[in-house]
Amino acid sequence: MGAEVVVEGLTKSFGRQTIWRDVSLTLPPGEVSAMLGPSGTGKSVFLKSMIGLLKPDAGRCEINGVDIVTCSERKLYEIRKLFGVLFQDGALFGSMNLYDNAAFPLREHTRKSESEVRRIVLEKLDMVGLTGAEKKLPGEISGGMRKRAGLARALVLDPEIILVDEPDSGLDPVRTSYISQLLMDLNAQVDATILIVTHNINLARTVPDNIGMLFRRELVMFGPREVLLTSDEPAVKQFLNGSRIGPIGMSEEKDEATMAAEQAHIDAGHHDGGTDDVRGVVPQVEPTPGLPERQAVRRRKDRVMQILHTLPPSAREGIIDSLTPEERDRYGIQSGVHATLGNRRPSPRPRNQEWQPAEGTLDTEVANLPRSDWRGGP
Ligand SMILES: Nc1ncnc2c1ncn2[C@@H]1O[C@H](COP(=O)(O)OP(=O)(O)OP(=O)(O)O)[C@@H](O)[C@H]1O
Ligand SMILES: [Mg+2]
Repeated sequence: MGAEVVVEGLTKSFGRQTIWRDVSLTLPPGEVSAMLGPSGTGKSVFLKSMIGLLKPDAGRCEINGVDIVTCSERKLYEIRKLFGVLFQDGALFGSMNLYDNAAFPLREHTRKSESEVRRIVLEKLDMVGLTGAEKKLPGEISGGMRKRAGLARALVLDPEIILVDEPDSGLDPVRTSYISQLLMDLNAQVDATILIVTHNINLARTVPDNIGMLFRRELVMFGPREVLLTSDEPAVKQFLNGSRIGPIGMSEEKDEATMAAEQAHIDAGHHDGGTDDVRGVVPQVEPTPGLPERQAVRRRKDRVMQILHTLPPSAREGIIDSLTPEERDRYGIQSGVHATLGNRRPSPRPRNQEWQPAEGTLDTEVANLPRSDWRGGP
């Protein structure tokens, strides 16, 4: 199983410019997570901070219990071997052909024989559809091919944690779907912990188990996909719909007057530039038939069912609706319960008080869920 990554109170600035502050999240082991956010909000900086290429000002980032913010250079070098990283620009060595680029981490970090290196490199290049292009230099191939070569290189060490910065940028929609499928297949095959930074709404809606969003120097949200996909949070909602209407503007943020003017435009019948409201829990991409099941699916379901009572009604609705009859049995959800009940607004919950659900509602079912004994179930 991939490593757990625990980020706690992470803050990063360059000089006087704070990029983000107090970011806390946990990448659950073996699950696929995505980080969204408008351009310039520090997603790439976040990725680089997670592998110790940039040094945060405060906070912790623990991998297998080692805080890479404060550990020694030697320890960091060891920890980095657990990672496979696809940087936003591919970061290939311009003077090396694709074969040597992909072979580089193996030659640098392992003592494998050249024939073993060859077997691995050709396998990974084949996985990303670059068979036959081994001898090409990065300058001789398309942007999308460079991305895929970068991904192959990220995979050669069989990493426990895979970080991919915009795997879809520069790819056509068909290849983007192939990359989405490839990431899911990889997760099924190696059970690695994966973090994908992306602007691609379709990928964000269909691939990750968990989604986070950076905006205005903060982590707005991070949680199970059902929470963000059904969220009313204005920035999350605007981003997922690709709409002009909302707090995200062309430059960092918008003032009230601009927002009001834009709303007036829409009210007058102009298109907001986005898709129709695409919120809702859509099915997730599954591994290619014939591959093993993703082990993360069951672990995640157990985890999410345990925190279900803390989630907003619309997210609970999505989660309960996605359960199979066997899973409903396992988690003790009565078969008549569904989610139309979840359309109610959440009842205001006084802080620091035990929350009491109304009788006979989905909330009751959720609150009455057994919380411990099903974990080790069949
Ligand atoms: N090494 C650096 N030195 C100083 N500032 C930097 C450095 N790297 C990034 N920044 C600044 O940090 C901010 C966030 O950059 P980052 O590349 O992380 O954004 P992003 O969210 O990945 O954007 P995009 O979606 O366009 O890739 C930007 O204002 C950028 O100028
Ligand atoms: Mg970036």
